[in-house]
Amino acid sequence: MTESDSQFIHWFRSAAPYIRVHRGKTFVVQFDDALVYSDKFSELVHDLALLNSLGIRLVLVFGARQSIEVWLNENGQDSSFHHGVRLTDADTMELVKTAAGRLRVEIEARLSLGIGNTPMSNAKLLVSSGNYVSAKPAGIVDGVDYQFTGKVRSVDHDSIQLKLDNNEIVLIPPLGYSVTGEVFNLNSVSLAADLAVALQADKLIYLIEGSGLLDCNNELIAQLMHTEVNSLLVKGEIEESNYLDAARQACQQGVKRVQLIDREQSGAILQELFSRDGTGTMISASSYDIVRQAANEDIPGILALIEPLEKQGVLVERSREKLELEIESFQVMLRDNVIIGCAALHRFSSVRTAELACFAVHPEYHGQAMGEQLLSTMESHAKASQLENIFVLTTQAEHWFIEKGFAESTLEALPVEKKELYNYQRKSRVLMKTLV
Ligand SMILES: CC(C)(COP(=O)(O)OP(=O)(O)OC[C@H]1O[C@@H](n2cnc3c(N)ncnc32)[C@H](O)[C@@H]1OP(=O)(O)O)[C@@H](O)C(=O)NCCC(=O)NCCS
Repeated sequence: MTESDSQFIHWFRSAAPYIRVHRGKTFVVQFDDALVYSDKFSELVHDLALLNSLGIRLVLVFGARQSIEVWLNENGQDSSFHHGVRLTDADTMELVKTAAGRLRVEIEARLSLGIGNTPMSNAKLLVSSGNYVSAKPAGIVDGVDYQFTGKVRSVDHDSIQLKLDNNEIVLIPPLGYSVTGEVFNLNSVSLAADLAVALQADKLIYLIEGSGLLDCNNELIAQLMHTEVNSLLVKGEIEESNYLDAARQACQQGVKRVQLIDREQSGAILQELFSRDGTGTMISASSYDIVRQAANEDIPGILALIEPLEKQGVLVERSREKLELEIESFQVMLRDNVIIGCAALHRFSSVRTAELACFAVHPEYHGQAMGEQLLSTMESHAKASQLENIFVLTTQAEHWFIEKGFAESTLEALPVEKKELYNYQRKSRVLMKTLV
């Protein structure tokens, strides 16, 4: 077997948990016409087809911004905005309708491709579009009439769900229909957020220009909670944007994850969804995936988490003093600044093996893949320290670790220092995992 064969097999296996996690989940994906008319769009279509075939329920929302700008320029007209929102007069509205119709047909055509020897071979995607979104006029603000610019009034989520149940991809143009038979121009970024809320989507993905949300030093912010957005704005560390605003609102109304992904980066959406090495920025409704190095001020929280488990004999007892000495080897997992998980990685001087110890998730959060996430972080740290394997001594979670790739081992395989300290009364099982 060649190295690239084994890399492929390793990659495919490592994607398996994500394939299971995402199956049956609803993702709303927004992109602009600049992407549709670029040479990157074919790759995106292939990736969307793959997501559909993996059982992900997809709602695609497109914008027509570039088409409108080009037309206005060609006709010597200026774009008019008020509070960052486009004013749409009757002529512009006709253009929006034309642009949206063309885009819809173009996207449907691309999703219908089924040429052999391409990623679209045998894809047979069904695409559905329709009057799922009702709109109302944005109205008059500060004496400025937005005319045909609209706001979402309601989303026919039941009809969309039926289409998704039928494995169809739902395609939503930036248009909304009113009860009076009028059509309104909608901002596709906020429309995507409204749809994600109405469908209680698991993810809202924006394919944007640029790598994600940047801080004032132009560094990428990989993740943040929606509750952090305001304070970062006030401190001037990030700039207000349409995406940020929509992401914050979506999270406030129950969407768990909003992702800003670079539309230029090939396969970024797959990397984001099927590997731990995501790209772009993730704005989350809760902080459950914040895992960080523990500090002394975390000791009370760690003790509160592990003391009940020590009393039950699940974990070995640790005094506060011992914890203080070892705190640097601990990672903690937080939700809303409360410690809900912890783990330590103890190294040994002469061998490339470390002990995964004091591994615990608060019982209230069991079964939400937090343990898996914590383990993955610990493994990444171990790999970064050039360790070859990690072991755990456990009395009650043997099967859990075996399911996560650990194998039964023996006392003999442990580093000498650990062997000498082994507590024969606890009869803990020794489990070892080779890091690849
Ligand atoms: C082991 C532990 C960390 C798992 O945390 P978690 O966040 O619930 O784990 P996940 O959500 O990733 O996995 C949940 C799955 O593992 C299973 N599971 C949980 N604990 C298990 C155990 N002790 N043995 C076998 N399976 C277990 C659950 O049934 C669930 O399976 P399912 O969803 O397929 O039904 C957590 O149960 C814990 O803190 N245990 C006490 C501390 C401990 O034993 N530590 C190990 C010694 S250091």
